[in-house]
Amino acid sequence: MDKLISLCPGLEGPLEDMREAARYLWERGWAEANGGNLSVDIGGWLPEDAPFAGFGEWQSLPQAYPELAGRYYLVSGSGRRFRDFARKPEENACILRIAPDGRAFRRQWGGCGDPAFRPTSELPSHLAMHRFLRQRGKAETVILHTHPTELIALSHLADFRDAESLSRALWATMPEIKVCAPGGVGWAAYACPGSEELARATVEAFGQSRQAVLWEMHGLVATGRDVMGAFDLIDVLNKAAKLVLLIKMTGGMHRGIREAELDELARAFGV
Ligand code: 13P
Ligand code: ZN
Repeated sequence: MDKLISLCPGLEGPLEDMREAARYLWERGWAEANGGNLSVDIGGWLPEDAPFAGFGEWQSLPQAYPELAGRYYLVSGSGRRFRDFARKPEENACILRIAPDGRAFRRQWGGCGDPAFRPTSELPSHLAMHRFLRQRGKAETVILHTHPTELIALSHLADFRDAESLSRALWATMPEIKVCAPGGVGWAAYACPGSEELARATVEAFGQSRQAVLWEMHGLVATGRDVMGAFDLIDVLNKAAKLVLLIKMTGGMHRGIREAELDELARAFGV
């Protein structure tokens, strides 16, 4: 770690934030065992000519990502716990470089002490999302997937099986939700974890304006300009999901924040 920071001093602050967010996710109960994963486009924090020697073999990707060619990503490891990432990032995460032709990746740092170390099994969704963000010139650099309890519970209910009904239900609980997640939450039907199918559905569900997508019976994928921004988004959305469930359990919503009030919020907060 110290060596990495001395090579890339700009990474120190962001890495500290990642460790802190990983700890919060575990404490919230949204990262049981190896649940959840993280990837961050760290190009902006590396020196012009990143001084990594590179190690390991180039490993081919199931499809080409020419838009990501040559870029560096800090990625959590497969089967690794967020709570361990918080303590020892060099053993539980790695820095990947995408090959110049976008068809392979190589580990440049991390995954120490385990020859079988692999980046997260959800790499297809992470790379698909990074490509999507770059293609649209978005400022978000973080993809954070985790298993927030109440959001997963909501994803089981028949009433919230599309982005529209899900977003409306969450926005109706308290003003903060519309302000923090003005684009609402996308919805992706169940697909096998780690699959290309799930990656495609995720990108599609983000659409033009969403910052997060709920994976049915699985968890949430959130984007952020930094890792704390992505964490806050998950925190706010799960608070809303908890309220939806509590309100349902205690007799149903009396009125909820109405459409005109949501428009007023959007105007007042410029979102
Ligand atoms: P990984 O341990 O491979 O990151 O998988 C965890 C997970 O949450 C899969 O969706
Ligand atoms: Zn998961």
